[in-house]
Amino acid sequence: MDRIRIRGGRRLVGRIPIGGAKNAALKVMAASLLTEETLVLDNMPHLADIATMRSLLGQLGVESVIQKRTMTLTARDVTSTTAPYDIVRKMRASVLVLGPLVARFGRARVSLPGGCAIGTRPVDLHIKGLERLGAEITLDAGYIDAKAPRGLVGAEIVFPIVSVGATENLMMAATLAKGETLLVNAAREPEIADLAKCLVAMGARIDGAGTDKIRIEGVPALHGARHTILPDRIETGTYAMAAAITDGDVELVNGSYDLVAAMAKTLEPAGVEVTPTADGLRVRRRNGRLTGVDVMTEPFPGFPTDLQAQIMALMTIAEGAAMITETIFENRFMHVPELMRMGANINVHGASAMVRGVKRLIGAEVMATDLRASVSLVLAGLAAEGDTVVNRVYHLDRGYERVEDKLAACGAEIERIKG
Ligand code: EPZ
Repeated sequence: MDRIRIRGGRRLVGRIPIGGAKNAALKVMAASLLTEETLVLDNMPHLADIATMRSLLGQLGVESVIQKRTMTLTARDVTSTTAPYDIVRKMRASVLVLGPLVARFGRARVSLPGGCAIGTRPVDLHIKGLERLGAEITLDAGYIDAKAPRGLVGAEIVFPIVSVGATENLMMAATLAKGETLLVNAAREPEIADLAKCLVAMGARIDGAGTDKIRIEGVPALHGARHTILPDRIETGTYAMAAAITDGDVELVNGSYDLVAAMAKTLEPAGVEVTPTADGLRVRRRNGRLTGVDVMTEPFPGFPTDLQAQIMALMTIAEGAAMITETIFENRFMHVPELMRMGANINVHGASAMVRGVKRLIGAEVMATDLRASVSLVLAGLAAEGDTVVNRVYHLDRGYERVEDKLAACGAEIERIKG
């Protein structure tokens, strides 16, 4: 298993390219199942999760070709409508093939994902929503078995809580349902608007994506299209924290200020300036000092849960205290004990972590069990005294492309140890 070794203490100065958003790309790939024609996707990131989704689609009979950052997907001869346990267990986003499969083929069998490192994460809202659209669903041997032999029928679906995945699954399913579907209390994440943009290019009729009410008028069939994936706001935010934690000065090329506005507003009182540039955005400390700020994760447009671990790493060396509250997932503090092994002062009380800034972190051997927790340890390592070794790098490879190369290009002393 690969590891990453970092010798901390280097300021990051330079430019870091931001790739296409993993969490948009995965859903848009699933959308290829909605048509027999070819979907061409540009600005695709090269990530392990994207390879996993490609392999799942391949098992269903979808043909795909990758050339540099362009992926073409053709779901003409779909031979299976089953997403097996082995893949869904590895990557929860696999459950996003459920809506498209039922909508186009009238059936799907998708393994229940089960719990994961950051919480129990049920998919009940996906299931109830599909039932509202007329699918008959049974749970059988750990699988969601969905049938709609006469097709789906539009309906009003009111989500009791905001769910990114359920909004996406049902928006995709509704594009081929008979009549109108209204999704109420829908998630507003930019990745949902990006998916809707792609679906509209494929011939879907969708209004309101990006707001909490999405209206979809079903059409009999979708067609091929070409779509460019939006920039990854979580990758952008992560490298912004890397610049801030090392007292560096970094331009995030192809990043979008608008997509990270909530983070920029949080970092401002912490003493970190985020400013738009012609090519993306620039991040540096205002006057060298970092100050503790309170953070609460929320659905978009609030502060994203996917940046919670990273801002916690930053706050470990800020002056004063920072109260970090996680409201989306019940168990997303796995990075805390590892940060504490590096000398951080953190107390967790339920959904909140009180971080009291320390003068310096000390390098250590650490590991984490999810993607964002792992990258927070890389950030801590960049600022720590001495060597930090981050184990289980495969978590990082799921969502960060060439993380060590991007950081090394800005002056970090970082290397991948193969093994
Ligand atoms: C997406 O997960 C992202 N994943 C997550 O990013 C992100 O943290 C999350 O949205 C929140 O922004 C992808 O896009 C692939 P949810 P998703 O449904 O769709 C509960 C990363 O690091 N819930 O919005 O699975 C759920 O348990 C990943 O890139 C139900 O109770 O998240 C959670 O507490 C991690 N029933 C809350 O809703 C359901 O049926 C929000 O989850 C569905 C969700």
